[in-house]
Amino acid sequence: MSTAYEIIDHTHDVVVVGAGGAGLRATLGMAAQGLSTACITKVFPTRSHTVAAQGGMSASLGNMGEDNWRWHMYDTVKGSDWLGDQDAIEYMCREAVPAVIELEHFGVPFSRTEDGRIYQRPFGGMTTNFGEGIAQRTCAAADRTGHAILHTLYQQSLKHKAEFYIEYFALDLIMEDGVCRGVVAWDLATGIMHRFRARIVVLATGGYGRAYFAATSAHTCTGDGNAMVLRAGLPLQDMEFVQFHPTGIYGSGCLVTEGARGEGGFLTNSEGERFMERYAPNAKDLASRDVVSRAMTMEIVGGKGVGGDKDHIYLHLEHLGTEVLAERLPGISESARIFAGVDVNKEPIPVLPTVHYNMGGIPTNYHGEVVTLKDGDPDSVVPGLMAIGEAACVSVHGANRLGSNSLLDIVVFGRAAALRAAQIVDKDKAQKPLPADSMDPIMERFDKLRYAKGDAPTATLRLDMQRAMQTHAAVFRTGPMMQEGVDKIARVYKDFENVSVQDSGLEWNTDLVETLELDNLRGQAAVTINSALNRQESRGGHAREDFPDRDDETWMKHTLAWINADGSVRFDYRPVHMNTLSDDVETIPPKARVY
Ligand code: FUM
Repeated sequence: MSTAYEIIDHTHDVVVVGAGGAGLRATLGMAAQGLSTACITKVFPTRSHTVAAQGGMSASLGNMGEDNWRWHMYDTVKGSDWLGDQDAIEYMCREAVPAVIELEHFGVPFSRTEDGRIYQRPFGGMTTNFGEGIAQRTCAAADRTGHAILHTLYQQSLKHKAEFYIEYFALDLIMEDGVCRGVVAWDLATGIMHRFRARIVVLATGGYGRAYFAATSAHTCTGDGNAMVLRAGLPLQDMEFVQFHPTGIYGSGCLVTEGARGEGGFLTNSEGERFMERYAPNAKDLASRDVVSRAMTMEIVGGKGVGGDKDHIYLHLEHLGTEVLAERLPGISESARIFAGVDVNKEPIPVLPTVHYNMGGIPTNYHGEVVTLKDGDPDSVVPGLMAIGEAACVSVHGANRLGSNSLLDIVVFGRAAALRAAQIVDKDKAQKPLPADSMDPIMERFDKLRYAKGDAPTATLRLDMQRAMQTHAAVFRTGPMMQEGVDKIARVYKDFENVSVQDSGLEWNTDLVETLELDNLRGQAAVTINSALNRQESRGGHAREDFPDRDDETWMKHTLAWINADGSVRFDYRPVHMNTLSDDVETIPPKARVY
């Protein structure tokens, strides 16, 4: 069956898809520069997943001791295990300082020091003097920093008269001869289809944590922009690198901020031992996340987990005192009570490494422009298309992101995309009409799912995918284990052709929304697990027991992955940018990571 749809047309200079921190920072920047700017969002803006970001945003303000953006850059390159692009990292770390001051001026209610400056806490992998000391670099609004930033950016976007299309589900990009010309979205309340014509579409759709069973991400984190890019025949980059946050609450996966360890919290095993001292003698509990997650997993596998099943670890905050907990960590104190039944003043929180962040995503340059490999050029720009935030792979995080570099990334590159758009958009030039058949393939896919009458329920397929990813693309990986995962995901991919959708209505059809989201997730799951099997080394968050060493000679390169119609994956590569952006800093040469 196929249906004729009511379609409403819109024309804007820029359409931003997603209203998390990256999307809103871009939206406000574009609107403030006089571009006609629309922001399409699946959820109400202040419900976007940035609201859950807790610990803070890094910037070398030096409010709590000496600091320098070059030290921040060094830490970020080292944290990335030398897969990060150094030009982009230099840009991010330099721009961090004005970006956070700008947020303060926008009205973000940061916590304060005694003398009224922005409060900064230590975070994993953040050091002074190129690894010598511990930096206090992470600017915080208690443990609700994302909440504070998101609300402020939304208010600023409204002030600058950006137009919001709220609770609209973006279905697909409109591409014409390799140029992005717009995007189609479904209004979830009315069921009406909207065709947006734009000079630039900015994908700010976040990560795809929900490809996994246990994730700190919201259920809405289904990587919708990444999936649109795959369907447009473009590649995703470095998808094998998935970050496990050391402290998800055991059972629920709810995040306990790294800021808890920044304030002095520590981990213990069943013997009461502070085991991180063995794995990272200098940084201890504040080693980078990949290191801490691996250490916790090794303790559990070695029989030193806590609890009846010896399958988790304790995070202690009791010694911090009621005042610090109430002032600096009120949010996680509440989460621990609700999700673990624990009073943090008296008992440790049961925690487990939990999927938290996707380092991979849509390849871009540091202006936010999407790039692809075209005619041998690895930095070839896709006209009309930008990506920012967790959806993008700039790549500033390389193989492993440092905590608090994500809020920084979204603000800096949201702003960079707005600056670039103002440079390249010619507002006075008429936009040519969209191709007459631009909606056809998009509505064909929509119809196919809307009327899908197979016998595989969406929820069953999703669970199969999530369990396969959790087991086979885990903290530690081996070839045979991942091959099994590749086979399972291929089965889910194929079985999806037999999916069943009960509700074919167009208004508030959550059955169809979840099925569209699963369609998006299955492609990313396939690309992730195939990319992981393909990369025969260990680097950052990708730890292979069968290839335990980092292999710079063969693998210091970005993976590009395209998906084929049958769910198989094709690879090529882009070089890592080892060059810096300016002469103010030198390239940081690869060396072993010691913590
Ligand atoms: O632990 C946290 O507060 C998370 C921060 C981040 O992922 O950057």
